[in-house]
Amino acid sequence: MADFYVTTPIYYVNGAPHIGHAYTTIVADVFARHYRQRGDEVFFLTGTDEHGLKVQRAAEEQGISPQELVDTNSAKFRDLFAKLELTHDRFVRTTEADHKDAVVEMVRRMKAAGDIYLDTYAGWYSASDEAYYSEDEIEDGKAIESGSAVEWVEEKSYFFRLSKYEQPLIEWYNSQDIPVRPKARRNEIAAFVEGGLNDLSISRTTFNWGIEFPEDPEHVLYVWVDALTNYITGIGGFDEKGEPAKFWPADLHLIGKDILRFHAVYWPAFLMSAGVELPKQVFAHGWWTVDGQKMSKSRGNWVDAFELVEQYPLDLLRYFMIREIPLGSDGNFVQERIVERNNSELADNLGNLVNRTTKMMQGFLGGTVPKSVETDVEADVSLRECAAKTLTEVRDSMDKREPHHALESIMHLGNELNQYIQSTQPWKAKKEGDSERVEQILYHALEGIRWMAVLVQAFVPDAAAKILVAFGLDPVEGARLDALQWGGLPAGNTITTPDVLFEKIELDVPKPVEKEPKKKSKKKGDKKMNKDDAEGSGLIEFGDFLKVKMAVGRILSAERVDGADKLLKLSADVGEDAPRTIVAGLALAFEPEDLVNKQVAMVVNLKPAKLFGIKSEAMVLAVKDADGGLELAFFSDNIVPGTQIS
Ligand code: MSP
Repeated sequence: MADFYVTTPIYYVNGAPHIGHAYTTIVADVFARHYRQRGDEVFFLTGTDEHGLKVQRAAEEQGISPQELVDTNSAKFRDLFAKLELTHDRFVRTTEADHKDAVVEMVRRMKAAGDIYLDTYAGWYSASDEAYYSEDEIEDGKAIESGSAVEWVEEKSYFFRLSKYEQPLIEWYNSQDIPVRPKARRNEIAAFVEGGLNDLSISRTTFNWGIEFPEDPEHVLYVWVDALTNYITGIGGFDEKGEPAKFWPADLHLIGKDILRFHAVYWPAFLMSAGVELPKQVFAHGWWTVDGQKMSKSRGNWVDAFELVEQYPLDLLRYFMIREIPLGSDGNFVQERIVERNNSELADNLGNLVNRTTKMMQGFLGGTVPKSVETDVEADVSLRECAAKTLTEVRDSMDKREPHHALESIMHLGNELNQYIQSTQPWKAKKEGDSERVEQILYHALEGIRWMAVLVQAFVPDAAAKILVAFGLDPVEGARLDALQWGGLPAGNTITTPDVLFEKIELDVPKPVEKEPKKKSKKKGDKKMNKDDAEGSGLIEFGDFLKVKMAVGRILSAERVDGADKLLKLSADVGEDAPRTIVAGLALAFEPEDLVNKQVAMVVNLKPAKLFGIKSEAMVLAVKDADGGLELAFFSDNIVPGTQIS
């Protein structure tokens, strides 16, 4: 049996959990549930990072002991994760005794490898990031990357010979499996290491909230050496033979992009030094902005994780967070989009399908599942093929860490099922007294829904369980992906209709001002706008804007189109499995080679159009200048292809 070990970062406990904490942990939960469904033995670890200067200062500000602060705040995270119904196997805390043992063992090994020496550190430190910064990473008293304040530190310190691992790290980044993902992040971190690594200060003497440096109680161990080791503590630490316990190496360290350096440089270097196998993959996800802006308390757009749980059903929250953005891209958390996805995808596509089909079952067949017959009717065959294809796509997408694609495929199966019912018209067969065909159609529809429920279980577990139970199946055993076979829904089972799976949501935003009753004669120059005027002036509703999906696309290749002097044929990465082909009227303004590797704005949900016999699958956005030339909107390489523009 394969095993799968997934981790989240352990969260700082200086404050309360917010949307970012909920996101990573939900994503990890989706992976954990998915691999469990495949029959893998899964270990899912999360927890809290409780030591360090930042936590000590937060406790001082509140006038309580650090221990008191971490106990209170760590409990909030556990509470949140219980409310989110997450399925972690352990919640690790760095103040736990077995964690200290694992950390002491790591440091002992790094020392034994000759990688630790005593010197003096003089440089910048950010307590907020718990990170050291070099002079060129600082501007106006702040770390350029994070914007956090830095302070000058000068004290005796133990150092880790990070510089020794420059070459081995580069080899690791270049290894076949590409252990740091997405690729853009791998490139970013490889460039950083190629720029040269300084040795790393790994102890402090000016505060004491942390693990004592082994054999030198004057020093406190740097909080990141302490924190990163949680990934070994969590699965049981080192065994008698000195090996990390079962499940090591981790299959997937899920982290946010801001803590890539710690996980893709420091952590593998510590492990190499300690003679421990490296994790298989470090995957950096993007950040959520809220209503298009960086989340901050002062802006008033802070999203407290407990409020999220109160506001949205869990299934919807999970669905939205996964479906809205490719893992690795930044996303914009906007209520309108959540509502849109709920109403049109979950409620209409899945919820109504289940409701309609189960009701038809009761009306036409008394709710009893007929036996499975694999007909060769075209609609039946293509539905079965679509289900089989979806299963493969879901597994592949999850292996490729593209959960949004997995959901896309599942929702496509939902569309196919809806169309299947529409085109086969079981009500017509019923009316004509063709009970055999009614049974065939309804069996196919039910079986398709069962497949959909199993496939979607990791993403929307509540709804999936309700469907399986309504089909007379066990919600756990019945959700095994490795046992998914067409015809698996037993004849004779009784089908009931589950409670509403997804309630439609009305937008909770201020309603447009009531339309004034039309006055018979309108004074000239009266500018007050009513809906008709709005339409006349070309204004659109926000919901209309949301229909246009714009994303950043990376142009992979560009060539001229024979016989069309204005057109270029492009191939672009828009964050999907395969690049899209685009025919764009850019040839008079750009040399094809100048566009390669550029990241530009595109509309990605236009119906494909054929131009000069080539199917164009997206549209590049451009502006005409006064002389009829063209300009494009370019994005830096920091943006992962596929990131939505909103
Ligand atoms: N304690 C360290 C991690 C140690 S792991 C050995 C830490 N903690 S944190 O609480 O500050 O951040 C935890 C995670 O939350 C990070 O992965 C970070 O990227 C993520 N997020 C914080 N804000 C976020 C968003 N707005 N959106 C998405 N994730 C964000 O760093």
